[in-house]
Amino acid sequence: MNATIIVPTFNEAPNVAEIVRRLNDAVGTGAAEILFVDDSSDDTPQAVAHAAQWSAIPVRVIHREEAIGGLSGAVVEGLQSAATDWCVVMDGDLQHPPEMVPVLLQSAQATGADVVVASRHVRGGSNQGLSDVRRRLVSNGSIALTRAMFPARLRNCTDPMTGFFAVRRSSVDIDALRPRGFKILLEILARHRMQVVEEPFIFAERHAGESKADLAQGIRFLRQLAALRFGRMSRFAAIGAIGAVANLAIMAALVALGIGYVIAATVAAAVTILGNFFLQEIFVFRDLRHEGRSFWHRFVASVGFNTIESMLRLPLLYLLVETTPVPSVIAQGVTILVAFVIRFVFMSRVVYRPRRTTPVSPLLARTIAPQSETTVPHATNGSV
Ligand code: GDD
Ligand code: MN
Repeated sequence: MNATIIVPTFNEAPNVAEIVRRLNDAVGTGAAEILFVDDSSDDTPQAVAHAAQWSAIPVRVIHREEAIGGLSGAVVEGLQSAATDWCVVMDGDLQHPPEMVPVLLQSAQATGADVVVASRHVRGGSNQGLSDVRRRLVSNGSIALTRAMFPARLRNCTDPMTGFFAVRRSSVDIDALRPRGFKILLEILARHRMQVVEEPFIFAERHAGESKADLAQGIRFLRQLAALRFGRMSRFAAIGAIGAVANLAIMAALVALGIGYVIAATVAAAVTILGNFFLQEIFVFRDLRHEGRSFWHRFVASVGFNTIESMLRLPLLYLLVETTPVPSVIAQGVTILVAFVIRFVFMSRVVYRPRRTTPVSPLLARTIAPQSETTVPHATNGSV
């Protein structure tokens, strides 16, 4: 299949020749063009011009005077400038193995998908190139939160943070994208209803140079999430707040009736947890109720989680106040906030998790069972 390979670059001069060489080996003349979209201050454009002289695949560079939208903006510019319907987006530091490019394109062809994601988080994939434990934690944490916020749109995507994917341009409303920061795939998937399949890949070590990820990128990512959608999460927060107020009201009423405060608090907690479950079913996850677990399964998981959580919160608060210099009210605020995020991720990712609708690694599935037709049903749920 003819495709454009879009490589965003920021000071990747020592990697250019190697990536072009490996792409030539991997896809031969099966690609229409390698398109570097460059914001460098080093001699990356010269390195590209040099590689263009010997590459069998045509090589082009767009050098941007102003790095609008950073990495994501560069990818969008590449999509706009590509001449083919299919584009593969990959990093310019060889953390994304060029040998995966034909795999992504074959998978696209075999399944009729709109996007083929190279994922580190399906069987056969790995994150081994992500340098340290802290970065892995941040990466996995942001994947959990992001999938919790877009349970339907990301139901078939285990790695919305990857910058390695093939996409059918005609399925993307490019003008609707608001590129910023590093996470262009999330931007694309969150704004469209698309057929997504995944192929595993091993995220390699950087070939040369250094990473451009920093705290500023992390903050851009949070702003991107905020702009994309807090809808589901804010409904969840509103229901949590109603629960907290109801809890206090019930407790006050019972105490006024002369009931001991421990029993009053227990009854108030039980009523709130049950009420919370039904409100959540109706107002937060209504669209996902028939996409995964059964009613009783959801009921037990949700009520069980909230019961344990409400029992753990107090000792945790005690520990925080006694072992750290944090003032008690601030400590209470922190535990409430942390509990909120964990509860939201648990509800969205476990209790209401929608089933996948496309197979993982459809290419591999085909080679194992070539006689069975791999049909990929179109996702029917479009509310997220
Ligand atoms: N044009 C352009 N403009 N390219 C950029 C910019 C920019 O402002 N910033 C970074 N890039 C390019 C880099 O040159 C590289 O080719 C690619 O984008 C990824 O940047 P890295 O600096 O290598 O980032 P990383 O390895 O920390 O992050 C990557 O890993 C994530 C997975 O954890 C990113 O590629 C993500 O897309 C990927 O998902
Ligand atoms: Mn990198």
